[in-house]
Amino acid sequence: MILRVPLVLSALLAFTSAGLRAADTIKVGEIASMTGKEAVFGQSSHKGTLLAVEQINAKGGVLGRQIELVTEDNQSKAGESATVARKLLSRDKVVALLGEVASSRSLEMAPIAQRARIPMISPASTNPKVTEVGDYVFRVCFIDPFQGTVMAKFAKENLKIKRVAVLTSVSSAYSVGLAKYFRERFVADGGEIAIEQRYAEGDKDFKAQLTAIRAAGVEGVFVPGYYTEAALITRQARELGLEVPLFGGDGWEAPQLLEIGGPAVNGTYYSTHYSPESDSPQVKDFVAAFRARWNGETPDAMAALGYDSALVLADALRRAGGTEPAKLRDAIAATKDFSGVTGVTTLGAQRNATKAASIITVKDGKFQFVQSVAP
Ligand code: PHE
Repeated sequence: MILRVPLVLSALLAFTSAGLRAADTIKVGEIASMTGKEAVFGQSSHKGTLLAVEQINAKGGVLGRQIELVTEDNQSKAGESATVARKLLSRDKVVALLGEVASSRSLEMAPIAQRARIPMISPASTNPKVTEVGDYVFRVCFIDPFQGTVMAKFAKENLKIKRVAVLTSVSSAYSVGLAKYFRERFVADGGEIAIEQRYAEGDKDFKAQLTAIRAAGVEGVFVPGYYTEAALITRQARELGLEVPLFGGDGWEAPQLLEIGGPAVNGTYYSTHYSPESDSPQVKDFVAAFRARWNGETPDAMAALGYDSALVLADALRRAGGTEPAKLRDAIAATKDFSGVTGVTTLGAQRNATKAASIITVKDGKFQFVQSVAP
């Protein structure tokens, strides 16, 4: 009995000081795949997001308060983004959610943000359905109808490909969508999809699909997937003697593409959101600050988009003059001509950004910028 009093008291004190802390800072939730199969995506976007938050805080924060980034790891697992989104909203009472990178995972968190009427900004999910969930869901990147068009045109006009195979990951909303938009444009422009094959996330053996593709006699293979499978597919294609160009979208963007793919990925192409080789002063400053903060690492597209997502949120918080969710939502929706490292963000009526795509190739085991394609 005697012991219980101080225990209760200290619990009360802890509760009160947590309450005070929460009032001091502006809590922003972040959901990322920090571990698991797409850990590279989560690690990158997190490093960019955190750098932005640290820079904002170093300059005094927003509205006289520091931003506190509360990061939750979904372990790259299906279902986990919904669970941690609920946790961030109910336990941490975050004023907004940043994330996810992968479209399937953004599609898990979006309905939760929408129902709670707490704004969510996806840095990098390109599937159109993500922002269609509702008026509290935004993104700071382009969408796949644009990306699919960019790669269809590039294949036809630059690679001079007329007959193509498409190899889609049917368990990824991103892959299914990007395949669709590529197909529509490629066929509309007079190209032919000679064969379509499918796989699922986590598959390791693509020989059956690639053998069928080789037999179809195509001039190129479009692989709208993520880097692990894209790299394995390219290696196995070369092992089977399929020498035509393979190309994909932003899901290819990771140093692991080079590590897993080895020399096989030379001569592949993909579209993405930015290039660290850009000579814009803003990008140069960002690349330098990122390298200084993260052990000399060069920021990739997800890092750049994570960075911009936090800056766009901070800008909206300032314009909203507070954290009231409806006002913050309106301020995010009104984002116009906001200059970031992935270009200028203006959020349209559908809450998407319209930005240029960068096309990258792999040459001698290194990423190389090919061209920028304006929207
Ligand atoms: N656009 C991908 C998706 O929607 C995610 C991604 C973004 C991957 C940026 C790589 C780089 O699932």
